[in-house]
Amino acid sequence: MNFKIAVLSGDGIGPEIIEQAKKVVLATGKKFGHTFAFSEGLIGAIAIDKTGSPLPEETLELCKSSDAVLFGAIGDPKYDNNPSAKVRPEQGLLAMRKELGLFANVRPITTFPSLLDKSPLKKEVVEGVDILMVRELTGGIYFGKPQGRSEDGKTAYDSCVYSKYEVERVVRLACEYAMARSKRVTVVDKANVLATSRLWRETALEVAKDFGDVQMDFMFVDNAAMQLIQNPGRFDVIVTENMFGDILSDEASVITGSLGLLPSASIGLLTSVFEPIHGSYPQAAGKNIANPLGTILSAAMMFDYAFNLKNVAEAIRNAVEQSVENDFVTEDLNRKSPKSTSQVGDWIAGKVGN
Ligand code: IPM
Ligand code: MN
Repeated sequence: MNFKIAVLSGDGIGPEIIEQAKKVVLATGKKFGHTFAFSEGLIGAIAIDKTGSPLPEETLELCKSSDAVLFGAIGDPKYDNNPSAKVRPEQGLLAMRKELGLFANVRPITTFPSLLDKSPLKKEVVEGVDILMVRELTGGIYFGKPQGRSEDGKTAYDSCVYSKYEVERVVRLACEYAMARSKRVTVVDKANVLATSRLWRETALEVAKDFGDVQMDFMFVDNAAMQLIQNPGRFDVIVTENMFGDILSDEASVITGSLGLLPSASIGLLTSVFEPIHGSYPQAAGKNIANPLGTILSAAMMFDYAFNLKNVAEAIRNAVEQSVENDFVTEDLNRKSPKSTSQVGDWIAGKVGN
Protein backbone atom coordinates (compact mmCIF):
# COMPACT_ATOMS: atom_id res chain seq x y z
CA MET A 1 0.00 0.00 0.00
CA ASN A 2 1.01 3.62 -0.40
CA PHE A 3 0.58 5.97 2.55
CA LYS A 4 0.68 9.74 2.60
CA ILE A 5 2.26 11.00 5.82
CA ALA A 6 2.30 14.64 6.90
CA VAL A 7 5.49 15.37 8.84
CA LEU A 8 5.33 18.21 11.35
CA SER A 9 8.76 18.31 13.01
CA GLY A 10 8.10 21.52 14.94
CA ASP A 11 10.62 22.99 17.37
CA GLY A 12 13.67 22.07 19.45
CA ILE A 13 14.65 18.43 19.03
CA GLY A 14 11.60 17.82 16.81
CA PRO A 15 13.47 17.66 13.48
CA GLU A 16 16.18 15.27 14.78
CA ILE A 17 13.84 12.75 16.33
CA ILE A 18 11.38 12.85 13.43
CA GLU A 19 14.26 12.10 11.07
CA GLN A 20 14.86 8.81 12.91
CA ALA A 21 11.20 7.84 12.78
CA LYS A 22 11.18 8.48 9.02
CA LYS A 23 14.19 6.18 8.58
CA VAL A 24 12.43 3.44 10.46
CA VAL A 25 9.18 3.90 8.52
CA LEU A 26 11.09 3.71 5.22
CA ALA A 27 12.88 0.56 6.40
CA THR A 28 9.54 -1.13 7.09
CA GLY A 29 8.44 -0.17 3.57
CA LYS A 30 11.23 -2.17 1.98
CA LYS A 31 10.63 -5.13 4.23
CA PHE A 32 6.84 -5.29 4.15
CA GLY A 33 6.21 -3.92 0.66
CA HIS A 34 4.66 -0.51 1.41
CA THR A 35 5.56 2.91 0.09
CA PHE A 36 5.37 6.25 1.88
CA ALA A 37 5.16 9.82 0.66
CA PHE A 38 6.29 12.30 3.32
CA SER A 39 5.30 16.00 3.11
CA GLU A 40 6.63 18.55 5.57
CA GLY A 41 4.45 21.17 7.25
CA LEU A 42 5.24 24.03 9.64
CA ILE A 43 3.84 24.24 13.17
CA GLY A 44 4.83 25.88 16.47
CA ALA A 45 7.49 28.54 17.09
CA ILE A 46 9.22 27.90 13.76
CA ALA A 47 5.89 28.46 11.98
CA ILE A 48 5.42 31.75 13.86
CA ASP A 49 8.93 32.85 12.86
CA LYS A 50 8.37 31.99 9.19
CA THR A 51 4.69 32.84 8.66
CA GLY A 52 3.40 34.68 11.72
CA SER A 53 0.96 31.86 12.48
CA PRO A 54 1.57 28.84 14.79
CA LEU A 55 -0.60 26.68 12.48
CA PRO A 56 -0.59 28.00 8.90
CA GLU A 57 -3.62 27.09 6.78
CA GLU A 58 -1.35 25.11 4.43
CA THR A 59 -0.26 22.83 7.27
CA LEU A 60 -3.84 22.16 8.26
CA GLU A 61 -4.77 21.32 4.67
CA LEU A 62 -1.77 19.01 4.43
CA CYS A 63 -2.87 17.17 7.60
CA LYS A 64 -6.42 16.81 6.35
CA SER A 65 -5.31 15.35 3.03
CA SER A 66 -2.85 12.84 4.58
CA ASP A 67 -3.36 9.31 5.94
CA ALA A 68 -1.55 10.17 9.18
CA VAL A 69 0.44 12.94 10.82
CA LEU A 70 3.84 12.36 12.43
CA PHE A 71 4.46 15.15 14.91
CA GLY A 72 7.71 16.03 16.70
CA ALA A 73 7.37 18.68 19.40
CA ILE A 74 6.57 22.35 19.81
CA GLY A 75 7.69 25.01 22.25
CA ASP A 76 10.42 27.57 22.60
CA PRO A 77 11.79 29.17 25.79
CA LYS A 78 11.43 32.65 24.31
CA TYR A 79 7.65 32.22 24.60
CA ASP A 80 7.65 30.37 27.93
CA ASN A 81 9.32 33.34 29.58
CA ASN A 82 6.98 35.86 28.03
CA PRO A 83 3.44 35.45 29.40
CA SER A 84 2.18 38.45 27.42
CA ALA A 85 3.19 37.11 23.96
CA LYS A 86 0.16 37.51 21.69
CA VAL A 87 0.88 34.42 19.58
CA ARG A 88 2.21 31.25 21.19
CA PRO A 89 3.47 27.96 19.73
CA GLU A 90 1.01 25.97 21.89
CA GLN A 91 -1.88 27.67 20.10
CA GLY A 92 -0.81 25.78 16.97
CA LEU A 93 -1.13 22.45 18.75
CA LEU A 94 -4.49 23.28 20.30
CA ALA A 95 -5.82 24.56 16.97
CA MET A 96 -4.67 21.41 15.22
CA ARG A 97 -6.45 19.25 17.81
CA LYS A 98 -9.64 21.22 17.40
CA GLU A 99 -9.55 21.44 13.60
CA LEU A 100 -8.80 17.74 13.13
CA GLY A 101 -11.39 16.80 15.78
CA LEU A 102 -8.75 14.86 17.75
CA PHE A 103 -10.98 14.09 20.71
CA ALA A 104 -8.89 11.31 22.27
CA ASN A 105 -5.23 11.21 23.21
CA VAL A 106 -4.07 7.67 23.81
CA ARG A 107 -0.92 7.03 25.82
CA PRO A 108 0.20 3.49 26.56
CA ILE A 109 2.30 3.34 29.72
CA THR A 110 4.31 0.13 29.70
CA THR A 111 7.55 -0.92 31.32
CA PHE A 112 10.76 -2.25 29.84
CA PRO A 113 12.16 -4.95 32.16
CA SER A 114 15.74 -3.78 31.63
CA LEU A 115 14.85 -0.20 32.65
CA LEU A 116 12.97 -0.91 35.88
CA ASP A 117 15.82 0.41 38.01
CA LYS A 118 15.41 3.82 36.32
CA SER A 119 11.95 4.28 37.85
CA PRO A 120 11.65 6.59 40.84
CA LEU A 121 9.35 3.91 42.31
CA LYS A 122 10.31 0.55 43.78
CA LYS A 123 10.83 -2.19 41.21
CA GLU A 124 8.10 -4.40 42.66
CA VAL A 125 5.59 -1.53 42.36
CA VAL A 126 6.22 -0.81 38.66
CA GLU A 127 6.96 -4.31 37.40
CA GLY A 128 4.37 -5.34 34.81
CA VAL A 129 2.54 -2.00 34.75
CA ASP A 130 0.49 -1.75 31.57
CA ILE A 131 -1.86 1.23 31.49
CA LEU A 132 -3.69 2.78 28.57
CA MET A 133 -4.42 6.39 29.39
CA VAL A 134 -7.21 7.90 27.29
CA ARG A 135 -7.42 11.67 27.68
CA GLU A 136 -10.25 13.74 26.24
CA LEU A 137 -8.48 16.30 24.05
CA THR A 138 -10.83 18.86 22.51
CA GLY A 139 -13.08 19.91 25.35
CA GLY A 140 -13.09 20.95 29.00
CA ILE A 141 -11.23 23.88 30.45
CA TYR A 142 -8.75 24.04 27.53
CA PHE A 143 -11.45 25.23 25.16
CA GLY A 144 -14.44 26.30 27.31
CA LYS A 145 -15.87 29.79 26.88
CA PRO A 146 -15.87 32.31 28.44
CA GLN A 147 -12.17 32.58 29.03
CA GLY A 148 -10.42 35.83 29.74
CA ARG A 149 -9.78 38.77 32.03
CA SER A 150 -12.06 41.36 33.53
CA GLU A 151 -11.72 44.90 32.25
CA ASP A 152 -9.71 46.07 35.24
CA GLY A 153 -7.40 43.06 34.73
CA LYS A 154 -7.81 41.97 38.35
CA THR A 155 -9.90 38.87 37.70
CA ALA A 156 -9.36 36.02 35.23
CA TYR A 157 -11.59 33.09 34.33
CA ASP A 158 -11.58 29.78 32.46
CA SER A 159 -14.63 27.61 31.93
CA CYS A 160 -14.82 23.83 32.05
CA VAL A 161 -17.56 22.82 29.61
CA TYR A 162 -18.57 19.33 28.39
CA SER A 163 -21.50 18.11 26.38
CA LYS A 164 -22.86 14.60 26.80
CA TYR A 165 -21.84 13.83 23.24
CA GLU A 166 -18.20 14.73 23.91
CA VAL A 167 -18.11 12.50 26.99
CA GLU A 168 -19.88 9.62 25.32
CA ARG A 169 -17.58 9.28 22.31
CA VAL A 170 -14.36 9.24 24.32
CA VAL A 171 -15.69 6.86 27.00
CA ARG A 172 -16.96 4.58 24.24
CA LEU A 173 -13.53 4.55 22.63
CA ALA A 174 -11.94 3.72 26.00
CA CYS A 175 -14.37 0.80 26.43
CA GLU A 176 -13.54 -0.47 22.95
CA TYR A 177 -9.82 -0.44 23.78
CA ALA A 178 -10.53 -2.16 27.09
CA MET A 179 -12.32 -4.98 25.25
CA ALA A 180 -9.02 -5.86 23.60
CA ARG A 181 -7.14 -5.74 26.94
CA SER A 182 -8.05 -6.66 30.54
CA LYS A 183 -11.56 -5.23 30.12
CA ARG A 184 -11.28 -2.75 32.98
CA VAL A 185 -11.96 0.98 32.66
CA THR A 186 -11.42 3.54 35.39
CA VAL A 187 -13.22 6.84 34.86
CA VAL A 188 -11.32 9.59 36.67
CA ASP A 189 -13.27 12.69 37.71
CA LYS A 190 -14.03 15.10 40.53
CA ALA A 191 -17.73 14.34 40.79
CA ASN A 192 -17.85 15.40 44.45
CA VAL A 193 -17.22 19.00 43.32
CA LEU A 194 -17.67 19.56 39.58
CA ALA A 195 -20.90 19.56 37.55
CA THR A 196 -19.00 18.43 34.42
CA SER A 197 -17.68 15.43 36.37
CA ARG A 198 -21.20 14.45 37.37
CA LEU A 199 -22.16 14.53 33.68
CA TRP A 200 -19.12 12.35 32.98
CA ARG A 201 -20.21 9.78 35.57
CA GLU A 202 -23.80 9.67 34.44
CA THR A 203 -22.81 9.34 30.76
CA ALA A 204 -20.09 6.77 31.42
CA LEU A 205 -22.59 4.55 33.25
CA GLU A 206 -24.88 4.69 30.22
CA VAL A 207 -22.05 3.79 27.86
CA ALA A 208 -21.06 0.89 30.14
CA LYS A 209 -24.44 -0.73 29.52
CA ASP A 210 -23.34 -1.31 25.90
CA PHE A 211 -20.17 -3.06 27.09
CA GLY A 212 -21.42 -5.84 29.36
CA ASP A 213 -17.96 -7.42 29.60
CA VAL A 214 -16.22 -4.23 30.67
CA GLN A 215 -15.82 -3.65 34.37
CA MET A 216 -16.05 0.11 34.99
CA ASP A 217 -15.08 1.90 38.16
CA PHE A 218 -14.86 5.57 39.15
CA MET A 219 -12.13 7.39 41.02
CA PHE A 220 -11.68 10.98 42.12
CA VAL A 221 -8.69 12.60 40.45
CA ASP A 222 -6.85 13.34 43.70
CA ASN A 223 -7.10 9.71 44.71
CA ALA A 224 -6.06 8.61 41.19
CA ALA A 225 -2.91 10.75 41.46
CA MET A 226 -2.06 8.89 44.66
CA GLN A 227 -2.97 5.41 43.39
CA LEU A 228 -0.77 5.87 40.32
CA ILE A 229 2.21 6.06 42.66
CA GLN A 230 1.12 3.57 45.30
CA ASN A 231 -0.35 0.87 43.13
CA PRO A 232 -0.12 1.61 39.38
CA GLY A 233 -0.66 -2.07 38.63
CA ARG A 234 -4.33 -1.73 39.61
CA PHE A 235 -5.11 0.25 36.43
CA ASP A 236 -5.88 -1.03 32.96
CA VAL A 237 -7.62 1.66 30.85
CA ILE A 238 -8.02 5.11 32.40
CA VAL A 239 -10.34 7.62 30.73
CA THR A 240 -10.59 11.21 31.89
CA GLU A 241 -11.24 14.80 30.90
CA ASN A 242 -8.70 17.06 29.21
CA MET A 243 -6.85 18.72 32.08
CA PHE A 244 -6.93 15.79 34.50
CA GLY A 245 -5.56 13.69 31.64
CA ASP A 246 -2.81 16.21 30.91
CA ILE A 247 -1.59 16.02 34.49
CA LEU A 248 -2.10 12.32 35.18
CA SER A 249 -0.52 11.19 31.92
CA ASP A 250 2.70 13.07 32.71
CA GLU A 251 2.66 11.56 36.19
CA ALA A 252 2.08 8.07 34.82
CA SER A 253 4.79 8.47 32.20
CA VAL A 254 7.63 8.94 34.66
CA ILE A 255 6.82 5.97 36.84
CA THR A 256 8.22 3.74 34.12
CA GLY A 257 11.48 5.68 34.37
CA SER A 258 11.59 6.56 30.72
CA LEU A 259 9.87 9.75 29.58
CA GLY A 260 11.85 9.72 26.34
CA LEU A 261 10.44 6.34 25.43
CA LEU A 262 6.74 7.01 25.51
CA PRO A 263 4.58 7.44 22.42
CA SER A 264 1.08 8.75 21.94
CA ALA A 265 -1.71 8.83 19.39
CA SER A 266 -4.37 11.49 19.03
CA ILE A 267 -7.43 9.97 17.44
CA GLY A 268 -10.48 11.74 16.10
CA LEU A 269 -12.78 12.60 13.28
CA LEU A 270 -10.19 13.17 10.54
CA THR A 271 -6.50 12.32 10.30
CA SER A 272 -4.85 10.93 13.45
CA VAL A 273 -1.66 12.44 14.87
CA PHE A 274 1.24 10.45 16.34
CA GLU A 275 3.77 12.11 18.62
CA PRO A 276 6.14 11.39 21.49
CA ILE A 277 4.89 12.64 24.83
CA HIS A 278 8.04 14.57 25.72
CA GLY A 279 8.42 18.22 24.74
CA SER A 280 10.82 20.13 22.50
CA TYR A 281 13.80 19.84 24.93
CA PRO A 282 15.44 23.05 23.62
CA GLN A 283 18.68 22.51 25.57
CA ALA A 284 19.40 19.45 23.44
CA ALA A 285 18.32 20.85 20.07
CA GLY A 286 20.83 20.29 17.28
CA LYS A 287 23.16 18.21 19.50
CA ASN A 288 22.17 14.77 18.21
CA ILE A 289 21.69 13.51 21.79
CA ALA A 290 17.90 13.31 22.24
CA ASN A 291 16.19 9.96 22.65
CA PRO A 292 14.32 9.12 19.42
CA LEU A 293 12.54 6.05 20.83
CA GLY A 294 9.30 7.83 21.84
CA THR A 295 8.96 9.11 18.28
CA ILE A 296 9.83 5.76 16.72
CA LEU A 297 7.26 4.07 18.98
CA SER A 298 4.75 6.74 17.91
CA ALA A 299 5.38 5.63 14.34
CA ALA A 300 4.63 2.08 15.52
CA MET A 301 1.32 3.34 16.90
CA MET A 302 0.64 4.92 13.50
CA PHE A 303 0.89 1.50 11.85
CA ASP A 304 -1.36 0.06 14.52
CA TYR A 305 -4.07 2.71 14.80
CA ALA A 306 -4.07 4.52 11.43
CA PHE A 307 -2.95 1.85 8.94
CA ASN A 308 -4.13 -1.27 10.78
CA LEU A 309 -0.82 -3.00 10.05
CA LYS A 310 -0.19 -4.76 13.36
CA ASN A 311 2.72 -6.79 11.99
CA VAL A 312 4.67 -3.66 11.04
CA ALA A 313 3.91 -2.05 14.42
CA GLU A 314 5.11 -5.19 16.16
CA ALA A 315 8.34 -5.28 14.13
CA ILE A 316 9.15 -1.70 15.15
CA ARG A 317 8.36 -2.37 18.81
CA ASN A 318 10.56 -5.47 18.78
CA ALA A 319 13.47 -3.54 17.29
CA VAL A 320 13.08 -0.81 19.93
CA GLU A 321 13.02 -3.43 22.69
CA GLN A 322 16.19 -4.96 21.32
CA SER A 323 17.97 -1.62 21.23
CA VAL A 324 17.06 -1.09 24.89
CA GLU A 325 18.07 -4.62 25.89
CA ASN A 326 21.39 -4.23 24.06
CA ASP A 327 21.91 -0.89 25.76
CA PHE A 328 22.21 0.77 22.34
CA VAL A 329 20.61 3.93 23.70
CA THR A 330 21.02 7.69 24.09
CA GLU A 331 22.54 9.45 27.11
CA ASP A 332 19.30 9.69 29.11
CA LEU A 333 19.45 5.90 29.44
CA ASN A 334 23.21 5.35 29.41
CA ARG A 335 25.43 8.11 30.77
CA LYS A 336 28.71 6.21 30.41
CA SER A 337 28.73 5.22 26.75
CA PRO A 338 25.76 6.82 25.04
CA LYS A 339 24.88 6.50 21.37
CA SER A 340 23.72 9.51 19.37
CA THR A 341 20.16 10.14 18.19
CA SER A 342 21.03 9.21 14.61
CA GLN A 343 23.02 6.12 15.61
CA VAL A 344 20.00 4.79 17.49
CA GLY A 345 17.76 5.59 14.51
CA ASP A 346 20.12 3.81 12.09
CA TRP A 347 20.39 0.77 14.37
CA ILE A 348 16.62 0.37 14.68
CA ALA A 349 16.03 0.97 10.97
CA GLY A 350 18.64 -1.70 10.29
CA LYS A 351 16.91 -4.21 12.61
CA VAL A 352 13.47 -3.50 11.18
CA GLY A 353 14.69 -3.84 7.60
CA ASN A 354 16.40 -7.19 8.21
C1 IPM B 1 0.49 17.95 26.09
C2 IPM B 1 1.08 19.32 26.32
C3 IPM B 1 0.09 20.36 25.80
C4 IPM B 1 -1.17 20.24 26.61
C5 IPM B 1 0.62 21.80 25.82
C6 IPM B 1 1.92 21.94 25.08
C7 IPM B 1 -0.41 22.77 25.29
O1 IPM B 1 1.38 19.52 27.65
O2 IPM B 1 0.31 17.55 24.92
O3 IPM B 1 0.21 17.24 27.05
O4 IPM B 1 -1.28 20.80 27.70
O5 IPM B 1 -2.09 19.56 26.14
MN1 MN C 1 0.96 17.82 28.94
